[in-house]
Amino acid sequence: MPTLGTPLDLIKMSKTLLIKNKIQKFNKQIKVSGDKSLSIRWVLLASQADGKSKGYNLLMSEDVLAAIDCVRKLGVKVMVYKNYCEILGNGLNGFKYKKNLTIDARNSGTLGRLILGLLIKSPRKIRIIGDKSLSKRDFSRVTVPLERFGAKFYYKIKNKLPLIMLGCQSAKGIKYLENKGSAQCKTSIMLAALNSIGTTSIKAKKSRNHSELLFKYLKIPIKIKKTKKYDFIEIKQPKKIKAFNYQIPGDISSSAFFIVLTTLTNNSRLLIKNVNVNPSRKGVITILRKMGAKILFKNQRNYRGEKISDILIISSNNLRAINCPPELNSSAIDEFLIIFLAASRAKGISYFKDVSELNQKESPRLNWGSKILNMMGIKTELTPNSIKIYGQPHLKITKQITIKNYLKDHRIFMMSTIAALTCGGKWKIHDKDAINTSFPSFLKIVKEISNKSL
Ligand code: S3P
Repeated sequence: MPTLGTPLDLIKMSKTLLIKNKIQKFNKQIKVSGDKSLSIRWVLLASQADGKSKGYNLLMSEDVLAAIDCVRKLGVKVMVYKNYCEILGNGLNGFKYKKNLTIDARNSGTLGRLILGLLIKSPRKIRIIGDKSLSKRDFSRVTVPLERFGAKFYYKIKNKLPLIMLGCQSAKGIKYLENKGSAQCKTSIMLAALNSIGTTSIKAKKSRNHSELLFKYLKIPIKIKKTKKYDFIEIKQPKKIKAFNYQIPGDISSSAFFIVLTTLTNNSRLLIKNVNVNPSRKGVITILRKMGAKILFKNQRNYRGEKISDILIISSNNLRAINCPPELNSSAIDEFLIIFLAASRAKGISYFKDVSELNQKESPRLNWGSKILNMMGIKTELTPNSIKIYGQPHLKITKQITIKNYLKDHRIFMMSTIAALTCGGKWKIHDKDAINTSFPSFLKIVKEISNKSL
């Protein structure tokens, strides 16, 4: 196999990434791409607005392109330009489509679940499909509450895609208890409320609150009362949503891989510009700081309710194990794989509990996290709901590790890449295209960090 002189050997002949050397110390500044949750929400809400909305720094990844294709199929005009995306919304409940339409959510659980909420009044049957990974995931978590608005759902295989949905012309607001801490479930119901008569009341276990902030900014009638564990949300049907421009900030979930890369690489510093550090998303930073990581916020500002900051990371070679407080789980829900990698290099035994939701993601991530650590020579104790990780601060891998058949879970690919660059060994990581789901420029940034100086 051909090899290059850099730590990262990108083998062009295949879709496999080969890494044979650890990364050398670095001092760099980077920018990660736009936030995925906000990009998808902007596309869906702009599709319901009256007239022209512009989205800047929209993430151009498979999941967001799937959202764009989806609203296009529902009769909404979308133009993608070099520096922004323009959507000509047809107004609330303004989707137009012919009989027997199929829409494809591809790999995106967020799109698949949120679009069902927006289709609450769809006058004819519509079929929703997804890729192999999405077709293994549970949809009853949204179809059960959406049925209470009056919609109907038909499955071939119980609770799994493909499904057929028929909306209800006289959809009525409901009272809903969201008890998993799932922002997708909460948001699907919030979107259904936009087209339903009366009030929708949601008692939701804490989860990311981008939808609430956008509803407030758009002056959609929403009231929110917060308690320690739950948010109580009340939404009334708006008359209309006015078109809106939005500048999407950088994604903390993408940044997390570089935060851990820097933490675990000796004598290194990294500045990540313009990241969304919304408190409901920054669990990864709280957890890594508790473990002893050096992470500083610089130049903090506010944008339409979202908190934005530059993040400075300085390497630290004495991480401590953590007994992770479960109340942080939802704010770090997409970052556990990379947190597990940090725990594998911490002194002591880390413990993460109440994390069964991780097995509901693009792959069974709790199981995969444990499996990869075991391949690296790290001892774990796994239950369906928890993991203990026996950290080895001085871990040095010398063997060959192959990562394959992981349902192309983008975050497994990125965690494995960071593990290879920080722990050594010879890694073959299959399905490079997995990163296109959320972070197509991931490998380009890794190269930037490993080659050039600031
Ligand atoms: C998301 C919510 C989370 C997260 C997903 C994005 C969102 O899923 O894992 O990547 O944008 O609302 P759950 O709602 O299933 O926790």
